[in-house]
Amino acid sequence: MKSRRDFIKETASASMVICCGVSAVSLLQSCTSAKQITVEIRNKTIRVSKSEFTDNSYLVVANMALPAPIYLHKISDEEYSAFLMLCTHNKCELDATSKMLVCPCHGSEFDLKGNVTEGPAEDALLQFSVTVNENEIIIDLNK
Ligand code: FES
Repeated sequence: MKSRRDFIKETASASMVICCGVSAVSLLQSCTSAKQITVEIRNKTIRVSKSEFTDNSYLVVANMALPAPIYLHKISDEEYSAFLMLCTHNKCELDATSKMLVCPCHGSEFDLKGNVTEGPAEDALLQFSVTVNENEIIIDLNK
């Protein structure tokens, strides 16, 4: 028969294993980083190969000439959207996730259509026109 002390010790150890397991999974999920690529801008246009999308639903597209990276979201093989990752509240660079964009400065949140879902920002993100051909996604920086 187990003593009360042994029972408490075993229960506490099992709880620690469960808690650590859950924490490790949460930590790994939150540490999953976005795929970022650096691109060239030619004639105010960015071309991204469709092959950059494998199991990811979005890319962070960077170029030093941009005020912030572009969030390129894959809606389907033929449909993509592109937003400047610059908060419309006070111009902080946004953090990207597969579900939303979040401002680290004051907590504004934007959905995958660039609309504000949580303030203090009031205006939607700057959206670029995107066209698609067989192999590429073309982001037009003029629009
Ligand atoms: S700068 Fe983004 S919420 Fe203030």
